[in-house]
Amino acid sequence: MQHISAEDKSATSFENESEIVKDKLAILGGTPVRTQPYPEWPVVDERDTEAVTKVIQSGQWGSTPYPGEQTAAFAKQFADIQGGGIAVPMVNGTVTMEVALRAANIGWGDEVIVPAYTFQATATAPMAAGAIPVIVDIDPDTYCISPAAIEAAITEKTRAIIPVHLGAQIADMDAIMKIAKRYNLIVIEDCAHAHGAQWKGKGVGTIGHFGSFSLQSSKILTTGEGGLLLCSTQELAQKVASIINCGRFTLLEKNIEQEAQSNGLPQLVKELAQLSAREQEQVFVLGTNYRMTEMQAALGNVALQRFPQQVEQREAMVDYLEKRLSEVPGIRLLKRDSRHTKRSFYRYIFALEPKIFGAKHDEVCMALYLEGIPCSSGYQAMHRYDLFQPQLSRLPVPSAFPEYFDFKNMSFPQAERACDREAVWLEESVFRAGKQGIDDVIKALTKIQSNTGALAVAKSVKNLAVKSMQLKPVKALMDFYVSRSYK
Ligand SMILES: Cc1ncc(COP(=O)(O)O)c(C=O)c1O
Repeated sequence: MQHISAEDKSATSFENESEIVKDKLAILGGTPVRTQPYPEWPVVDERDTEAVTKVIQSGQWGSTPYPGEQTAAFAKQFADIQGGGIAVPMVNGTVTMEVALRAANIGWGDEVIVPAYTFQATATAPMAAGAIPVIVDIDPDTYCISPAAIEAAITEKTRAIIPVHLGAQIADMDAIMKIAKRYNLIVIEDCAHAHGAQWKGKGVGTIGHFGSFSLQSSKILTTGEGGLLLCSTQELAQKVASIINCGRFTLLEKNIEQEAQSNGLPQLVKELAQLSAREQEQVFVLGTNYRMTEMQAALGNVALQRFPQQVEQREAMVDYLEKRLSEVPGIRLLKRDSRHTKRSFYRYIFALEPKIFGAKHDEVCMALYLEGIPCSSGYQAMHRYDLFQPQLSRLPVPSAFPEYFDFKNMSFPQAERACDREAVWLEESVFRAGKQGIDDVIKALTKIQSNTGALAVAKSVKNLAVKSMQLKPVKALMDFYVSRSYK
C-alpha cells in the first residue's frame, strides 16, 4: 500500500528517499533509520558527584529537621524558576497530590474530578486521601481534561479538580479556574510532565491552589525519585510541610515572624513558631514521613543549573518537529493554544489518523521504536485499569464506593479514541539530538507509511506479537493474585 503521492514526496527534503521507501522495515529485519542512540537521560557531570559527595561528607543525609539546607535551597530555587508559590519537596509526585488534598481538608467520601487520560497516580492519590476519583473525558484537541466534562460531573460532594498538563499540552486553566471559583473547588495541577511550562506567562503549578511535580528518574527535572508541591499560600505550605514531616509543626521559613506580619498568617502559626524544640515535637497535624533526603535535593540543585537551557533547547526543537510533522499525511498535531506561552515537556504527543496514515498507532509505535525512535503509544484510558476494581484492590475507597468504579458501564469516547487508536508519544531525548534527531523521526515515519502493507504482514508474523507476549506474564501474575491472595 502506497500512501505518499509524488507531490507529497517532493515536499520532503530527503535526497535518497526512494531508497528509504524501498528499505525493508526494521520490524521485518531491515536496517533501522537511526542506529545511533538518542542522548541519555539524566544528564550528568562532575557537579552531581561533587554535590552528593559534599552531602555524604557532611553527615546530614536525611532532611531532619525538615527542610535541610539542600532541600530548602532546592525548594526556593524551584519556586523562583516556576515563578511563584511556596515549594515543599517530598518523596514523589503521587504523594504530593495526596498531601495537597489532605492539607485542603479533603478526605473520606469527597469527590475529586480527574481526567480519563493520565498516569494512574492522578486517581490513586485521591484514594490514598480517602477521596473518590471521578473520571471525566478529555478535550480531543489537547488530550487534557475537558472543562465542559468537569462542569457536567460536579455534584454537591465535589471538592477538587486535578487537571493534568499531559505531554506537551496545558489544560485550559482559564476555564478550569473559573469553574473552581464558581463551585468553590480546590485545583491541584498535576504538572508531572510540564516543569518549566507557562500559561499566559505564568509557570504551571502556580495557577491552581497547588502544583504537583514528579522528580522521578525519567522526568525532565529529576532527583532519582522525588516530588515537589507548590502551594499558593504560606498557610497551606505550613500544613503540607507538617503532614510530610510526621505531623510536627515545621518551620518552612526561618523568618516566619516577619512572614506572619506581611502575609497575615494566623496567630496560631506565629505562636507555634515560638515554641521550644520539645514542644514543636508534639504532633501538629496527623502526618507521615514523606521527606526528601539531602542527597536528592543536592542532585536537584545541580539539575536546576542545567534546566533553563534544556527548556530553551526543547522549545526550539519542538517548533522544528511540528513544521516537519505537518508534512506527513495522516498526522494531526494537537492544538497550539496561544495562551500556552512556554512549552516544556516530558513527552511530545501527536495524533495519528489511522485511515489516512494507513496503520494504527500501536503498530506504528512498534515499528517506529524498532527504527530507532524512542516512543510509545502512551497510557491506557483510566477506566481500562483493572486494578481499580474493588474485588482486586480491596482498598477502602473502591470497596466502600463500588458504584464509582463500575468501569464496564463507563464510556469516555475522546480518551478511548486517543488511547486506542491515535496517540503517539515521542520521548524527550528526541529533542536533545539537534535537527538530525527530528529528521530521523520524520524519515522513520515516512518509511513506515510507505510500507504499511509490509507492516500489516509483520503484524501477522511474530514481531508484532512481542507486545502481547510481554503482557502474558503480567496477566498470569494478576490471575494468580486474584485467585490466591485476594479472597
Ligand atoms: C501525570 C503523572 N502524574 C503523576 C505521576 C506520579 O509521579 P511519581 O512517579 O513521582 O509518583 C506521574 C509519573 O509518571 C505522571 O506521569
